[in-house]
Amino acid sequence: MQVLTRFGISLEKKLLKNFDRHIQGKNYHNRSEAIRDLIRKELVNQEWAEGKEVAGAITIVYDHHKRELMGRLTDIQHDFNQLIIANQHVHLSHDNCLETIVVKGKAGEINKLADKLKSQKGVKYSTLSIATTARTL
Ligand code: NI
Repeated sequence: MQVLTRFGISLEKKLLKNFDRHIQGKNYHNRSEAIRDLIRKELVNQEWAEGKEVAGAITIVYDHHKRELMGRLTDIQHDFNQLIIANQHVHLSHDNCLETIVVKGKAGEINKLADKLKSQKGVKYSTLSIATTARTL
């Protein structure tokens, strides 16, 4: 367990009131935990902006009936195989597939992979969920 350091924060009454309302809605038990999470979120955003080694998950939903699309999506993933830790394919419905691709590597390369998958014709929805290797948190 890491040693905790206390420090004071000064902020406007209105801002604090709004923050307290916000964290209450998010089920935080105290301000410290909420502020810790905000700091972590900011640091993770910075890791991505600076192109550091990061982790994340790409989710794509696409048309099952476009057979050539499945091949293209697989080819792209093979081109970026060094980034991909895991892949799960779910037959979402008769017409649609959902794939989650767990990735770890340089942020810029992960963004390239996510953009390439997203821009394929027949991909109906795609999102990149950014995460972290947590080495610096
Ligand atoms: Ni499927």
